[in-house]
Amino acid sequence: MTSIDASTYQIHVNNHWSTFTNFVAERKYSSVVILVDENTKLHCYEKIKEYLDFNHLLIEIQAGEIYKTLNTCENVWKQMLKFNCDRKSLMINLGGGVIGDLGGFCASTYMRGIDFIQIPTTLLSQVDASVGGKLGVDLNNLKNIVGVFNNPQMVWVDTSFLSSLPANELRSGYAEVIKHCLIANKDMWSTLKAYSNPNDVNNWSEIVEDSIRIKNNVVTEDPREQGKRKILNYGHTIGHAIESLLLETENKLLHGEAIAQGMILEAKLSLEKGLLSQGDFNEVKNYIETVFGTLDVSIIDVEKLISYATMDKKNFAGEIKMASIDQIGSCSYDITISSDEIKSLFV
Ligand SMILES: NC(=O)c1ccc[n+]([C@@H]2O[C@H](COP(=O)([O-])OP(=O)(O)OC[C@H]3O[C@@H](n4cnc5c(N)ncnc54)[C@H](O)[C@@H]3O)[C@@H](O)[C@H]2O)c1
Ligand SMILES: [Zn+2]
Repeated sequence: MTSIDASTYQIHVNNHWSTFTNFVAERKYSSVVILVDENTKLHCYEKIKEYLDFNHLLIEIQAGEIYKTLNTCENVWKQMLKFNCDRKSLMINLGGGVIGDLGGFCASTYMRGIDFIQIPTTLLSQVDASVGGKLGVDLNNLKNIVGVFNNPQMVWVDTSFLSSLPANELRSGYAEVIKHCLIANKDMWSTLKAYSNPNDVNNWSEIVEDSIRIKNNVVTEDPREQGKRKILNYGHTIGHAIESLLLETENKLLHGEAIAQGMILEAKLSLEKGLLSQGDFNEVKNYIETVFGTLDVSIIDVEKLISYATMDKKNFAGEIKMASIDQIGSCSYDITISSDEIKSLFV
């Protein structure tokens, strides 16, 4: 049980639900809507509705990234109008990163912005998406193109939601936990290394809290990604390119699965540039491969991968930039990588 101070709000981890309901009751909202998808309605709303002793209305959207669109927002806004939501209404986003990003965006723009609370229910959204104020939706299959920075009134994390999460979604979120540890917290490494499978983890409370603290510290220091926040992109330059490349194929990977391979490959680039020791590289590669398996490099079209990496919105002046670890628990950013260096990873 803990509360973490974020810039203008608090992140509660496994606190008693009465703290949540008191928070809502004290603010005397004119109405409360809870946004869910079909899975979080079943597995999360049903589990907590006995605690929600205030009047509220449910808005349900379809689950999945393909529904993270302006079209879905329009449906949500229309239902809010139908429910007579006004500027004193509250929106509670109960779900994974899709619900959090889309719901937070809907709340931030409805009547020029109403209060919202994030209740992340996937591992990825608990340790990553719900912290840092980035909200938005996809457009033309491009991720997070339309959005805003805005903070919720509160983030409410309950790690018991993880028990109904499919194993592959849990593992995908675990990649971001590993990333946080590798970029900023060497002490956490020995805790994680005790698990070769995230399904075996029995201390989510501690792991999720440590992971949130890392992301929260980084985004508090650099909320608009001018500098240090870029370390959160470790694994994402190559990993995101792998994710995009395999998206339409039978080898499709979940986000975290691709990022896990991206972390190994970017660490390898650091090794080859003399920025990371062989010992640390071996440790990172061995652990990630134990959890996520080995990438079959023969399925990678390297030229295509390079073109995806070149399109990354984090690049500058046509150069491909990455963030990568210089030792376990420490990360550098704005490291330029060439096409030839990327090619060398796949021979
Ligand atoms: N805002 C940010 O800073 C940030 C950071 C990282 C990722 N994201 C975004 O997060 C999204 C991915 O988030 P995600 O991985 O949580 O995906 P998601 O929201 O699609 O959830 C994954 C699946 O799990 C289901 N689900 C959620 N909670 C469940 C539970 N407790 N039990 C059973 N099923 C459950 C969902 O219905 C969905 O089918 C992407 O859109 C990404 O862009 C945002
Ligand atoms: Zn990620």
